[in-house]
Amino acid sequence: MKAAPIGDALKNKTVALLFLNNSLRTRTSFDVGAKQLGGHAVVLSPSGGMWPLEFEDGVVMDGEAEEHVKEAAKVLSRYCDLIGIRAFPKFVDWKEDRKDRILNAFAKYADVPVVNMETITHPCQEMAHVMALQERFEKDGRGALDGKKFLLTWTYHPKPLNTAVANSALMIAAKFGMKPTLLCPTPDYVLDERYIAQATKDAEAHGNALTITHDIDEAYAGAEVVYAKSWGALPYFGNWEEEKPIRDLYRHFIVDEEKMAKTADALVSHCLPMRRNVKMTDAVFDSANCIAYEEAENRLHVQKAIMKALVG
Ligand code: CP
Repeated sequence: MKAAPIGDALKNKTVALLFLNNSLRTRTSFDVGAKQLGGHAVVLSPSGGMWPLEFEDGVVMDGEAEEHVKEAAKVLSRYCDLIGIRAFPKFVDWKEDRKDRILNAFAKYADVPVVNMETITHPCQEMAHVMALQERFEKDGRGALDGKKFLLTWTYHPKPLNTAVANSALMIAAKFGMKPTLLCPTPDYVLDERYIAQATKDAEAHGNALTITHDIDEAYAGAEVVYAKSWGALPYFGNWEEEKPIRDLYRHFIVDEEKMAKTADALVSHCLPMRRNVKMTDAVFDSANCIAYEEAENRLHVQKAIMKALVG
C-alpha cells in the first residue's frame, strides 16, 4: 500500500466511519485511504446530525437516544461494506467501560465487518507504530524488532485520558518479540489485567518478560524504543478530583533529553495529538529519533490493507 498507494481494491465499495469522539488522523486517514482504493467513505457523528444512539439491549428508550444500535448497524450494513467505530470509554466506571459495549454491539448486529477506530484499544494505531519501527530500524541498519527493549512510559496530562493506545502498544510490542517495560507512577496506573496478561503471555512466547516499574532510571536504561502516553488511573474512573492531585505529583515523567540520554539511542514516538512540553519536550519530539510522523503516515497504509483484506 505504501509503495503503490492508488488502486481499485475498494471500487464500488462504501465504508461508514462512525465517530462518537473527536479525531484528526483516524478520520482523515480512513477517508483518504478508502478514496485512494477507489471506494467511498461516509463519515457519521452525533454532532454532524446523526440520531443519538442507544447501545443497551432491553431498555425502555425514553431518554435522549432516538435509535437503537441494532437498527443503526443493520441499516448501515445495507448501504455499506464496512463499519468503523470510534467510541471512547465514558470514564465513569472502568468495570463497565472494559466491556467495550458499543464496539461489541455493532459487531453483534452489523452484517458487514466492523473495525475498531479506537475504543478501549487502538489496534490500527499500533500496527502503524510497529511498521514505523520496522522501517526505521531497517533503514538505520539496526535489525529486527526481536529482543529490543520497548519502554511504554506514562506521562503527565492535565486530564485523565483513555488507556486504549497504551493497551495496544504493550500488547503489540510483546507480540513482535520486543522486551516490553511499562513505566508508570504508582500501581494504580498499571493497565487492565486483561492487557497485562496478554502482553505477558506473548512476551513469554518469545522468551521475554514483561517488566512493570515505577523507577524512571531503571525503565529508560538501555531502551531502544520509547513510547509516550498519558492515561487515567483505572481505580479512579469517575473519581477524577481525587486522582488529580496524585497525577499532579508526576509531571516529571515528561520525556526529555535527560531521560533519553539513558537509552540505547532509542527511537521515540507518540500517537498524537500530543501536548508539547507536557508529555514530551520540543527537543525530543523534533529530534531525528522521533518517528511520530512516520507512525501517523502509516495509519493510512495499514488501514488500507485492513480495508482491502476485509472487503476488497
Ligand atoms: N492517534 C489518533 O488516533 O489520532 P486522532 O484521535 O486524531 O484520530
